[in-house]
Amino acid sequence: MEKEAVKDAEKSRAPRPVAASVVKLRAAVEKASAGGGPARLEAQKARGKFTARERIHYLLDEGTFQELDLLVSTRAVDFGLKDKDIPGDGVITGFGQINGREVCVYAQDFTVLGGSLGLAHAKKIAKVMDLAYENRVPVVGLLDSGGARIQEGVDSLDGYAEIFQRNVKCSGVIPQISVILGPCAGGAVYSPALTDYIFMVEGISQMFVTGPDVVKAATGEEVTFDGLGGADAHSSKSGVCHFVAKSEPDCFRQVRELLSYLPQNRWEKPPRVANPDPIRRHVPLMEQMCNLDPRKSYRVHHIVWQIADEHKFFEVQAGYAKNMVTGFCRMGGEVVGVVANNPAHVAGALDINASDKAARFIRFLNCFNIPVLTLVDVPGYWPGVTQEHGGIIRHGAKILFAYAEATVPKITVILRKAYGGAYIAMSSKHMKGDFNFALPCAEIAVMGPAGAIEILYSREIAACKTDADKAALRAKLCAEYAAKFASPYQTASTGSIDEVIEPSLMRYKIVRALRFLKDKRVPGTHENRGNIPL
Ligand code: HXC
Repeated sequence: MEKEAVKDAEKSRAPRPVAASVVKLRAAVEKASAGGGPARLEAQKARGKFTARERIHYLLDEGTFQELDLLVSTRAVDFGLKDKDIPGDGVITGFGQINGREVCVYAQDFTVLGGSLGLAHAKKIAKVMDLAYENRVPVVGLLDSGGARIQEGVDSLDGYAEIFQRNVKCSGVIPQISVILGPCAGGAVYSPALTDYIFMVEGISQMFVTGPDVVKAATGEEVTFDGLGGADAHSSKSGVCHFVAKSEPDCFRQVRELLSYLPQNRWEKPPRVANPDPIRRHVPLMEQMCNLDPRKSYRVHHIVWQIADEHKFFEVQAGYAKNMVTGFCRMGGEVVGVVANNPAHVAGALDINASDKAARFIRFLNCFNIPVLTLVDVPGYWPGVTQEHGGIIRHGAKILFAYAEATVPKITVILRKAYGGAYIAMSSKHMKGDFNFALPCAEIAVMGPAGAIEILYSREIAACKTDADKAALRAKLCAEYAAKFASPYQTASTGSIDEVIEPSLMRYKIVRALRFLKDKRVPGTHENRGNIPL
């Protein structure tokens, strides 16, 4: 009797036939997930590139991806599209998690019609961007595309317009990241250019408005795809690209690291982490800094590494305008954006590219509630006809605008030189710096001693009979000027410097200031701000 009962129970557990509707679904999903088929997937691999699905897998936390619109396909029929299989219309969209936080993501699939963008493809991207916007989460685009789908004509161009419009709507509301993982040509480059950060991978990423053939026909210049629009060109020359990776896995690691410093949206603060690095940790390097010959250069990175939590600094646009260093670090567990003159490059002077770089970064920080830490060692603006005719007045004004407009906490430390207009521009007290500190070796003045005495005492110097007399007089006048102005004390006496700090306490002073400013609010200024590409 008992045996019979067991048999009955086993029977009831036996696999039942799968419903036809489920079989149909599984077949459709399998077909749509297959990309452009084995040959094109093989070709993608042969170029050292991951497939779109692999990319999503590497980017997101394991097992968190939820795909949307897998079964969407184009309604276009012209030029043979009617008979073509176009899985997912060449783009994978959905949401998942990075570092345990939600993100929306899309990945163009080059194995499907070269990842070209038709109307359905564009609508999928637009839909996932709307999802990101309404749910206030970052959006990451993985781009690998031949551009507008030629067979779909103006529909493709309209599709791009839909995306551009959303890029602007999302600007300053949610972080937008573009990862270029193949070709990105023509007007297609402008969606990434409207986002906050662009990543490229050496050897596989290319961005250009017109390709080498058109360049040659129009200007006679001969250039390769990589030379024209590769990672090196855009990270060191054009400033289009913010981060360069050696490989795709390295790139996804960097994207995840960048997001770890960012809030999900403009209403949130960046994630605070437990900070094992003591906030009172002394920084002996800063004392050495005060012994440095004022004419000697140094890389400001060494200072950032010393003061940052666990010596970690995530640099933005490391290869571009190296006289201005920008990037993220944590201090006392809180994220700060660092903007620092770098004396190792053109003496840390401000020029056109440095101005654009800093201004855009500051505006990003202000959109996303990230305090600005400004480290100043600047001899002034870089002189020259190229700079003047290139528009240093127009570009330099962007830094002034960005700092004056920023209402996030602003902490400034003058490390050494702070001369003239550049002193004002680098988050000075009267540009509404919240806390302005100076090291005892700071030199704050309208201009450096050598230039100043030539203007103030030109007649006296000209009256000297011999060169030796001139040199002696210059040395005396320089010493007098330096004693009065090449120090932080005149500025401290007017309150334009809040404190001349003990150098080794620099980290502690900054962390205390950050903690004091953590709830800073400037009434009426938290309206929507866009991060326009500067
Ligand atoms: C339709 C395209 C395509 C496109 C590539 N393919 N680009 N299909 N529209 N724009 C298809 C190819 O026909 C091919 O299909 C497959 O994708 C792979 O392309 P290949 O040429 O074989 O690959 P490769 O040799 O690696 O060359 C990649 C490429 C090249 C450099 C991207 O395909 C190319 O030059 N494409 C055109 C680029 C372009 O001019 N796009 C328009 C830019 S203007 P099969 O079936 O053979 O696999 C633009 C305007 C945007 O985008 C405006 C926005 C405002």
